[in-house]
This record gives sequence, C-alpha cells and structure tokens, in this order.
Amino acid sequence: MLADQAPDKTPDRIAGMFDAIAPRYDLLNHLLSAGIDKRWRTRMIASLQLTGRETLIDVCTGTADVALEARRGARDGATGYAARVLGVDFAGAMLALGLRKVRDAGEQRHIALVRGDAMRMPVPDGIGDAATVAFGVRNVAKTDVACRELARVLRPGGRLAILEFSVPRIPGLAALYRFYFSQVLPRIGRVISGHSGAYSYLPASVGAFPPPDEFVTLLRQSGFTDVRAVPLTFGIVYLYAAVREQPRNR
Ligand SMILES: C[S@@+](CC[C@H](N)C(=O)[O-])C[C@H]1O[C@@H](n2cnc3c(N)ncnc32)[C@H](O)[C@@H]1O
Repeated sequence: MLADQAPDKTPDRIAGMFDAIAPRYDLLNHLLSAGIDKRWRTRMIASLQLTGRETLIDVCTGTADVALEARRGARDGATGYAARVLGVDFAGAMLALGLRKVRDAGEQRHIALVRGDAMRMPVPDGIGDAATVAFGVRNVAKTDVACRELARVLRPGGRLAILEFSVPRIPGLAALYRFYFSQVLPRIGRVISGHSGAYSYLPASVGAFPPPDEFVTLLRQSGFTDVRAVPLTFGIVYLYAAVREQPRNR
C-alpha cells in the first residue's frame, strides 16, 4: 500500500494544491523523476502519429509541457506535431506559468490555454483530432466522468494518449519504489515546494488509481476502442493509447 486511506480529491483542494506548488512544479518534476518525465511525454506524443494538421486537446495541461512537446516538431523542422493545441486546466497559477512558457517559445498563435475542469470542459463536442492527459487523470475526482468527457471532445476515430503513474509489479523494484515514493519523494517535495501535503498526496493518489487492466476497461466503457496499456520504465508509468469509437449504425 502507498497510503492508508483514499486521498481527498475535492476540486477546490486539488486546484489549490497545484496553485501552491506551481512555482516549483517543473523543477520538482524533473528532479524527482531524474529527467525521465520528458522522455515519457515525448513517447506519448509520438504514439499519436501526428501529421501537422491536427487539433490536440491537452487535458490537465498544467505548465504546458505536453502542449509544447506536441508543437516541438514544428519548431525543430521535424515531423509528428499538432497544428494547434488547446490546453485545459483548473489551476490558474499552473496555467499562468504555462502561458509564459508558451510565449517564450513563440507558440502563442498555436497553443491556447483555458481554465476549466476535466469533468466538464469548456470545449465543444468532437473538435479534437487527438487528446492527451499526462499525470492528471488520477487527480480528477470522478475518473469515469473525465473519461467520458475525453470521448465527448474527440471526433470519432480521434486518438487518445494518457500517461499515468502505476505501482510496478517486479518484486524487488516494487519494494524500492514504495520506499522512494512514500519516504523519500514526500520529504524532498516538502522541502523544495514548501507545501506539506502535495508530495504525500502524490503516492496516495497513485495507490488509489485503478490498476492498468481496470483503467483499460473503463476507457472501453467510456467510448474508446483499440485500447492498449504500455508499461514504461519497468511499469512505473503506463502509456494508455485508445481510439474514439465510431458511432454505431442504427
Ligand atoms: C501532475 S500535474 C500534470 C501537469 C502536466 N500535464 C504535466 O505533464 O506536467 C496535474 C495537473 O492536473 C490539473 N488537474 C487536476 N485535476 C483537474 C481537473 N479536475 N480539471 C482540470 N485540471 C485538473 C492540476 O491543476 C495540475 O495542473
């Protein structure tokens, strides 16, 4: 177990927590994952096989790292990028930092950030050719509602990619991971972010999130097909890939 009781995911509490840690969020992300988080996002965007024409909706966009990664190909003259990205998040301080990064990268004509809840996004039906969620879905109070909302904003045939932490099953590694996640990470997080709860909430929320096979089932029940769960870095993180179902013939 990574926690004794289910974490409180009240939207105001979660948004307030991310607002409080926003100034140190990127630093801690890269530090606590030894920089591997960047590779996980790159892998997620690559899984979408973007062609440069798509509208991508990045849910729980935070400080816009996924949105910027989805446009990196355009800046580098490479393939595999979206034409435009709409990032959605309910934490204003995270979005403010994200907006600064978007401007610094000269991407303000291609990336828009809006404030909103993943359970009822201010986004019209079916406008997304692709959607992403990196390390966000486990924080949403009702996972099933968020999954249905992802299906709503994607067009039929649109691709979904989700990154989320998991508890590795390899015996020795599982014990090491539990120790790092429950003992080391909360302490480093507390010292650097100055927030007492946020980095204890992290292991608690990972422990409370459905295991990969259950989450795959939930995505299928929410309107997705071709659902796959790919373990990354010994199963510390899973990449979930899925396609928005075509409407059934009547
Ligand atoms: C761990 S951060 C991930 C940020 C970013 N996707 C990344 O890869 O760094 C989680 C983000 O999800 C946002 N979030 C959590 N629950 C949300 C919800 N119900 N609606 C919108 N945003 C939410 C938080 O505000 C936070 O910015």
